[in-house]
Amino acid sequence: MSAANLQIRPDGHLRHFLCIEGLNRGLLTEILDAAESFAGVAEQSVKKVPLLRGKTIVNLFFEASTRTRTTFELAAKRLSADVLNINISASAAVKGETLLDTLRNLEAMHVDMFVVRHAESGTAHFFACKALPHVSVINAGDGRHEHPTQAMLDMFTIRREKGADFGRLRVAIVGDILHSRVARSQIHALNLLNTGEVRVIAPRTLLPAHVESLGVRVFNDLREGLRDIDVVIMLRLQRERMQGALLPSEREYYQLYGLTEEKLSMARPDVTIMHPGPINRGVEMDSQVADGPRSVILQQVTYGIAVRMAVMSMAMQQNTPAGTASA
Ligand code: NCD
Repeated sequence: MSAANLQIRPDGHLRHFLCIEGLNRGLLTEILDAAESFAGVAEQSVKKVPLLRGKTIVNLFFEASTRTRTTFELAAKRLSADVLNINISASAAVKGETLLDTLRNLEAMHVDMFVVRHAESGTAHFFACKALPHVSVINAGDGRHEHPTQAMLDMFTIRREKGADFGRLRVAIVGDILHSRVARSQIHALNLLNTGEVRVIAPRTLLPAHVESLGVRVFNDLREGLRDIDVVIMLRLQRERMQGALLPSEREYYQLYGLTEEKLSMARPDVTIMHPGPINRGVEMDSQVADGPRSVILQQVTYGIAVRMAVMSMAMQQNTPAGTASA
């Protein structure tokens, strides 16, 4: 079954959250609205709601992560779920256990939800195909394919900064689009939300073939691509996924594609600067820009918790934070 069909229940609600491609605008808006109500939970003195009390969530990370894993963990804890973190690179996979055996063993412990990150595209989809009927799977990044909760927290950030009318916005994604699951999810989300114009800006060697077919305008020149832009999303050079020499040197990359105050003068004066992290300062962006007044990079991290609370509670069909008495 396609990932898009697998993740929606027959009644139209979310069951798994595997990819943005194939979802619909209504569902994305529902996630953003739910996240809005969860954003307030962090400001309460008791930062918890009892929605997932008694549920067990396993964070199954086959690949290194700091922000994504910790914000999923905090999101689960703020929903009052019991959370288990498993770093598989240091565990069973090393001993030769198959993915299916790992899943079955954890299911035998009565787990209700898996949050899965893996270097291979399609791993979360595989888990969702094999999971027991009451179990939900959330994709926390699969290879170069998708990273849907990152894209949703980025959409949430844009909506908070610029308002709900995406139709009047020009958004540019800059850098290593070829290896980026984040970019792929963002492009689908921006298009589903009817963004006025979505641009990708990168050297030819860091663009996937036929990227225009995803519904973006392609620029190879950063200054040209930044003209009149409202939102700029910078990406890291994902060296761990590069095979062979795609770039001359980091120094030259910075000269051509590194975001500086000077290059930003092409954009709108109220431009918003984003980055999913981790940032490589002096490679894709200058510190002055990363730490400057137009950067919302740390807000993105904060919003990630609310968005992950929204997705987790919706997949467990507990998406009303109303009556949020503490657990
Ligand atoms: C991204 C990822 O892992 O895909 N980071 C993240 O989730 N915050 C992007 C990256 O690694 O550059």
